[in-house]
Order: sequence, then C-alpha cells, then structure tokens
Amino acid sequence: MDLNKIQNLKNQALSNIIEAKTKEELEEIRISFLGRKGEITNLLKEVPKLDIEERKETGKFINEVKKVIEEGIKRQIKSLSKEKEKEEEKWFDVSIPGKKLRFGHLHPLTLASDEIRNIFRKIGFKQVSYPEIEWDWYAFEGLNMPKNHFARDEWETFFIKDLKNKKYGEAVLTPHTSSGQLREMKKNKPPIRMLNIAKCYRRQIDASHVPMFYQFETLVIDKGVNITHLKGTLDYFVKEYFGKAVKTRIRPFHFQFTEPSFEVDISCLVCGGKGCKICKEGWLEIGGAGMVHPQVLKNGGVDPEEYTGFASGFGLERVLMMKYGIDDIRLLFNNDFRFLNQF
Ligand code: PHE
Repeated sequence: MDLNKIQNLKNQALSNIIEAKTKEELEEIRISFLGRKGEITNLLKEVPKLDIEERKETGKFINEVKKVIEEGIKRQIKSLSKEKEKEEEKWFDVSIPGKKLRFGHLHPLTLASDEIRNIFRKIGFKQVSYPEIEWDWYAFEGLNMPKNHFARDEWETFFIKDLKNKKYGEAVLTPHTSSGQLREMKKNKPPIRMLNIAKCYRRQIDASHVPMFYQFETLVIDKGVNITHLKGTLDYFVKEYFGKAVKTRIRPFHFQFTEPSFEVDISCLVCGGKGCKICKEGWLEIGGAGMVHPQVLKNGGVDPEEYTGFASGFGLERVLMMKYGIDDIRLLFNNDFRFLNQF
C-alpha cells in the first residue's frame, strides 16, 4: 500500500479540520474519513489483505493517522466553543438598565451657608474670612470684655497653651464670629457691610451644643445707621430664609460690645406664633444683635462721632435645625447617610 497516499489523506483531513467553522462541519469531516465508509476506514479494511511485513507497518501507520485525525477534531471543537464564549462576552444588551452611579452632594451645613451668603449678597453684604485661632483682644478685650470680666463666662473658651502676643494677649480658638467685627474695622474703612460665616469653638456638648459649630455675623457701619436698619435687615433675612409668613422680634438683652443689645426671636415655625409645646409663647430665639458699642468702634479705629453701626450673630446649625425641625445638633456631624441623603 502507498504510504504517501495515507500521508496525503492525513494532511487533507487536518487542513479541512482547521478550516471548519461549525461542529456540524467537523462531524461531516469525521464521517468522510473515519465513518463506516470513510477513506481511512476503507484503507484499514485493505490491511488484512497485505503480506505480514507490510501489514504490521501499514496497520500501525493508519491507526496513528486515525488517532491524529480524531484528536484534531476534538481540539477544533474545543477552540470553536471558546470562540463562541468570547463572542457571547462581547455581546452587550443596550436595553438592560445601567448601574446607578452614587452621586454625592454638599453637606447641609455647606448648603445653608451658601444659601445665607446669597441672601445677604442680594443686599450688598460681602463675605469675609478671619482666623480660627484668634487673639484674646479680638475675641474679648477689644469687645469690652477685659480680663476676669464675668461676661466672658458665656463663651466657654479654649485657650491655646504657650501662644501669646504682646499686644493682643493669649491665643484662643475663636469662640464667636464677633472677633471679625474688630478685624473688619481695622482692615476696611466704612461703609462696611460684612458677613462673616465661620467655625467657632466652645467647651460644650449636648443635644443642642457641640464644641465646634458655625456662626454667621453681620456688621454694618455707615453714617446714620440706626436700629430700624438693624430691624429691617433681620426681618429681611428671616423672611428670605424661613419664609414670608415668619415674623421677627427684638427683645432687650445685654452684650458688652453692643449698646443697646437685643436677642432676636422669630415667630414659632410650628404653631405660627400662637404658642405650643415647642415655643411655649409663640417665639423662638435665633441669636443676638445690637448697635455696635462706641468703644468697640474706637477699638476698631472708627470714629463713633461720625459713624454708627449694627451687628448680629446667629448659630448656623441653630437656624438650619429650626428650618427643618432637626432636634439633635449631633446629627449634623455624624455623617449618617440616612440623615444626609434627605438634603
Ligand atoms: N457674639 C454673640 C454670641 O456669640 C452674638 C452677637 C453678635 C451679639 C453680634 C450681638 C452682636 O452670642
């Protein structure tokens, strides 16, 4: 038997196998070579007719070829199914809803601070920023609170160890934004319309106090500024921030750095001013205010004979909590998404 012919059959089979694109094609190839009437099978049928020597050698060779073809078919089946898998991976169903991206947003305190800045910007207030680590003089002394004055007790202050200024005294973590009044006067000549929104620090913690909180302070200094300007500005702010129906009231109070001084109340957001469990008598306090004390004007380098001014200071967390009915200030600092996602 011609071994070359067998070799050619093998080559032909292998090249057919490599070109096959489907399992069905491979099955056809298998039948045509190895099936009952296949070309290799037919050759095998001839083997017994050969003489012994040739029979051994030819039989062995044909069986090897048979094995090679069988393995070739198996290998091709495997690689076809791998390609199919890859095809399936590439397939992309555009109609499947996408994965939702998680979007963050600004913290409610940042939002409130932006909102308040915009409210005051509309009536010409400029936002400023002053140091969080402040000298005693700006926080107390220059605001008519000399050393050991009991009025200081209101501001449970953190003092900074071993940091002192010859002229301005000890360093403190600024306990209120009113220190910005003196800084603003020293920096700019009147007319002044300042809005100072800043972090403040006091040694305190409960449901309505935290050691680090925010205040926003207004300061207006010009010729002929009087209480009606203060009242009008407070009223404007309250109506813009809390709503048109909310009323403002100023009530006599005492601060060392304003004269006269007031506490500022708004009509209760829950009962509208009738009196309820939350407000008791229809009003809620939102902060302090007053006409800048002549000595404070002098301390800031402003002539009190020529100029007058008013100032007000509110807690940012406080107004935010009142607006949304939040009853624990610590919610604003816990970073709990269940809370934050509501804004
Ligand atoms: N600084 C005062 C406080 O922290 C508030 C205030 C500001 C009062 C401006 C009068 C004028 O309580």
